[in-house]
Amino acid sequence: MSRERPRVVPVEKGDQATVDVHALGDGPDGLAKIDDYVVFVPGVLPGERAIVDITSATRKFGRGELRHLEQASPDRVEPRCAHFLQCGGCHRQHQNYRAQLLSKQQRIQKTVDFALGADTVAVQPTVAAASPYGERHKVAVQLLPDARGSLTAGFHRARSPDLVAIDDCPASDPLAWDLVQRTIELLRELPHRAWDPWFAPKELLRSVLVRTTTTGSAHVVVVATEPRIAGIERIVDRLLRDGASSLSVNHNDGDPARLLGPHTELVAGRPFVHEEVGGVTFRLSPTVFFQTSPRMAGHLVQHVLDWLRPTAADDVADLYCGVGLLTLPLARRARSAFGIELHGGAVDDARASARDNGIANATFRCGQVAGWLRECGRELPRPRLVALDPPRTGLTPDVVEALRSLAPDRLAYVSCEPQALQRDLPLLQAAGFRTVSVVPFDMFPQTAHVESLACLERAT
Ligand SMILES: C[S@@+](CC[C@H](N)C(=O)[O-])C[C@H]1O[C@@H](n2cnc3c(N)ncnc32)[C@H](O)[C@@H]1O
Repeated sequence: MSRERPRVVPVEKGDQATVDVHALGDGPDGLAKIDDYVVFVPGVLPGERAIVDITSATRKFGRGELRHLEQASPDRVEPRCAHFLQCGGCHRQHQNYRAQLLSKQQRIQKTVDFALGADTVAVQPTVAAASPYGERHKVAVQLLPDARGSLTAGFHRARSPDLVAIDDCPASDPLAWDLVQRTIELLRELPHRAWDPWFAPKELLRSVLVRTTTTGSAHVVVVATEPRIAGIERIVDRLLRDGASSLSVNHNDGDPARLLGPHTELVAGRPFVHEEVGGVTFRLSPTVFFQTSPRMAGHLVQHVLDWLRPTAADDVADLYCGVGLLTLPLARRARSAFGIELHGGAVDDARASARDNGIANATFRCGQVAGWLRECGRELPRPRLVALDPPRTGLTPDVVEALRSLAPDRLAYVSCEPQALQRDLPLLQAAGFRTVSVVPFDMFPQTAHVESLACLERAT
């Protein structure tokens, strides 16, 4: 009887070791090896040889921190942000932008190959961000005490609930970042402190969320553990003068992992901002989902329209429609478009935008996608074309089942999570759809995140 020999772990915590980097992981780390032992190291690139400080070493894998590069990749560039690798955000800044796009295409290719096996398709080149920095129009920072006990901005460290203080964020739209800073500067004048679930659970101020639009408006939301912030009216005029078009307070006294609570109250300014994408103006309430880069949203909309190609004879459905980003442009070309969405505020915005843009053939319902799909073809028209953009968890089995019975001619599946895409493509294939093409989109440059559009048709 052969007994498995215990695996030799070639290093231990505290060692310095030379590693060869083979690939990038799906998160902040590069995958390096010492012989066949894997060590995860942030801030390295494939093809590099590095000396690392080993920070942990288990039988399965180790972790290390870069000390010195013995051989650098030709794709290496200087990170633009001073908080690179301390902040858990933009961990691909050391890779040139062309290589970032290529590595995202390769990642989605692997996903699609795994999902479809012999039926795989060639993934198209990644659609590049309008600009590799300064494109995030929604910025949310946590508030934490600075060295003098006053307020400062923080982001989470990678794989950690700990916060790191941040004084600049080149990934953010410059107006959004200026407003984050200005809001914090003004909040420091009030007698309130930063909340912390463990060390300061009674304090008031949790986070600042800013959404800017390409048309120049900006909604600032201060998240607090109470519904009101005493004295906030003292800062309103200066915040509005310095670029905010609205200021709201969101009340969140719950889960530390959730940015927003259920109630938001306008303190000053207009209750909504408006964003324009593809010739449609969208009304946005402060807490609804909207793509972080409006210019990339425009590319996404165009690709969905190009694949679905609605005509004046078509009824179209947009599942998980948010504020109608896809529904309204589709409605402009179709006989009718129907959007279904769980968030009541997003549905109100979608209906208001339909009215404001004179789009009379778009209807929206607030509810669960699965329930609505079951009614299609009975009380509701059967859509020949379907767009779907689920949350990170992807599709539920009842949605896939309902799509099988509905059997639309074409599907445009927008995915923000490759693992969900990998699981859902074979399910959709088994439900009678064939994947024709897949296009990745770089919605979050300088990070490992990648979105994609899978174009499917009903198999004959
Ligand atoms: C990734 S967003 C897409 C929104 C929109 N397509 C866009 O690009 O702006 C997903 C949306 O699905 C909604 N949602 C999540 N689960 C849902 C469900 N079971 N039924 C309906 N909507 C849902 C969320 O509220 C969110 O607005």
